[in-house]
Amino acid sequence: MAQMRLDKLLAGRTPHSRSEVRQLLREGAVRVDGVCITDGSRKIDPETQTVSCAGKILPGGSYTYYILNKPKGVVSATEDRQRTVLDLIPAEQRVKGLFPAGRLDADSTGLVLLTDDGALAHRMLTPGKHVPKFYLIRLARPFAAEYPARLQKGLTLADGTVCLPAEVRHLREQYALICLHEGKYHQVKRMFAALGNHVENLHRVGIGRYLLPPDIGCGGYLAISHKDVENLLSEGRLDVVCEQIMKNFSSYLLNADQ
Ligand code: URA
Repeated sequence: MAQMRLDKLLAGRTPHSRSEVRQLLREGAVRVDGVCITDGSRKIDPETQTVSCAGKILPGGSYTYYILNKPKGVVSATEDRQRTVLDLIPAEQRVKGLFPAGRLDADSTGLVLLTDDGALAHRMLTPGKHVPKFYLIRLARPFAAEYPARLQKGLTLADGTVCLPAEVRHLREQYALICLHEGKYHQVKRMFAALGNHVENLHRVGIGRYLLPPDIGCGGYLAISHKDVENLLSEGRLDVVCEQIMKNFSSYLLNADQ
């Protein structure tokens, strides 16, 4: 990729405005390959150089990666009559070609990756390689002891669709955490309908080994680092995710229940 101005790169790949970027540069908060740079006009190559701002590494290469905490009523599309996930990113940071890698229903909330990297989205979503997705759900009726074994066998939905084995853990009261390796239409809701229950709320908390930070409010977004992108593509484990969710249960519930 061609070299580009450091201030332009920072404005495009962090949530900061241009004036905030100037301020951060003045304050010495920006480093290129570990060296503090205060001159925003400095040309750098994001493909080969590592840039950090206020201690956070910017996503590198020629691609952009944002994660967001999707609110209810927002659709996972690039264009629609309703508000879309792209509308949650300020216009000046909405790079060309940005799209949601994977969908959440309009009434679901939580983690969505927005990127212009089609190959990464493909790696994340290809059936067979499908990285695990973790959903915090609230059920209408009590969690039955038979659910883990039935889901582990691979459930057949009302229309005959056969699902891959899925793992589920009861957290407390009507809350559970489910892990899927595929993404069929309304899958979690239809699975619990097949079990005779009803999903009242669905909040995606993790993809691969990456967990939605508990302090990202509803509608908030973040440019993520290389390491986070790698974590999105890695095998995550339900027991590890469970532990993290239980540690920050009130923050996740606050997000999941809105
Ligand atoms: N399963 C669902 O039913 N809905 C979602 O939004 C995601 C998974």
